[in-house]
Amino acid sequence: MLTQDIIKKKRDGKGLSKDEIAFLIKNYLSGEMPDYQMAAFLMAVCWRGMSRQETVWLTGELLHSGRTLRTDSLPGKKIDKHSTGGVGDKVSLVLAPLVASMGVRIPMISGRALGHTGGTVDKLESIPGLRTQLSIAEIDKNIRDVGLTIADQTGELVPAEKKLYALRDVTSTVESIPLITASILAKKLAVGLDGLVLDVKTGSGAFMRCIEDACALAQNMVEIADSMHKPTIAVITDMSQPLGRMVGNATEVVEAVETLQGRGPEDLLAVTMELGVHMLRLAGTCSDREDARQQLARALKDGGAMRKFQEMVERQGGDVRSLERFGQRVSKNVREVCSPASGYVTRIDTYQMGLAAVALGAGRRRLGDAVDHSTGYEMLAKLGNTTERGRPLVKVFYRDEASFKEAEGLILDAYEISDEKPAARRLIHKVLRDF
Ligand code: URA
Repeated sequence: MLTQDIIKKKRDGKGLSKDEIAFLIKNYLSGEMPDYQMAAFLMAVCWRGMSRQETVWLTGELLHSGRTLRTDSLPGKKIDKHSTGGVGDKVSLVLAPLVASMGVRIPMISGRALGHTGGTVDKLESIPGLRTQLSIAEIDKNIRDVGLTIADQTGELVPAEKKLYALRDVTSTVESIPLITASILAKKLAVGLDGLVLDVKTGSGAFMRCIEDACALAQNMVEIADSMHKPTIAVITDMSQPLGRMVGNATEVVEAVETLQGRGPEDLLAVTMELGVHMLRLAGTCSDREDARQQLARALKDGGAMRKFQEMVERQGGDVRSLERFGQRVSKNVREVCSPASGYVTRIDTYQMGLAAVALGAGRRRLGDAVDHSTGYEMLAKLGNTTERGRPLVKVFYRDEASFKEAEGLILDAYEISDEKPAARRLIHKVLRDF
């Protein structure tokens, strides 16, 4: 088998065999296949796509490129959720402890900030002492004892996916339905789940900007997960503005803690509840949608979700007491970006808003860059709000003048202010496999 022949086959739109896909992934992981050949292959996939069968084989190859977690002997269901990525998306920080506090086990392997999107693992690491680089043995123990862990992808679990994702990030080959599907499902299946809820984002801050593409991705993921016997529900949610008010790392932990204490913003709570309903449904612990909502609301109200979050933080070495005054971890350099005009906020280019977070150091330009946990911003005006010339749109927590200036330019570019009141946007667009 010759690598260039397989690349050529895909370039010309032909289907690949299981052996050919296995050959590529194994040789890439071992270092025999150089980055430039894999980059060419990935670009061919972006253009030509993959059949459902090819995607199943690719997912299987990535999944078995490392070790997997064996949790079959544990009582209770293991359920997880995964987001395709967005800006201000701190749902996992609220949802995972909320659902875990109700007896569902959640082995969550999360990502880091990349491109314009944020990452749960970076946000969590703004808690002093908290470790996310856990061994398989530690993940296993946390799932057994606490019922919840949020960990970084290790070299032990799905190493081929990790290597491939880093290459996709720098070769503009992320936005491909089969590649996203295989990347997400391989990571999720490696921890032995009983079911998975996917939060497929759509809008200007999502990889799938239009609803049709988001539906196609959701449909593809649900079908591939079916072929791999993993019950999966996909919820398509809006990402045409940052979720909640806060964007960054420590800033988002502040907002997540407030939400766990019952003081969260409406949109964040609505997405969390919707995803939570489907997680309980997959776990088989609710009779219907209303029952699930009531159970979730109770766990938020009685403090069970917050206690589970504290338990997880403590188990992973984090300073639980720091959560009481977490605002102190946010940069004290604060300036506002003000509106250039009066009117309604009619559009917020969320990709640009994500880049503003990167400019502030809260995200990363390249895999391996360090992030500044203290920087970020607060959205003071969201879609449909009115504003006036000179009134603050965004409050920025910054490190130095140059990064503030760069972020300010991006934020001003992202906001569109006009006279016409925009139509209200739906937050939950669609559910595949609804009740
Ligand atoms: N998130 C992932 O985990 N993988 C992708 O390919 C895209 C988003």
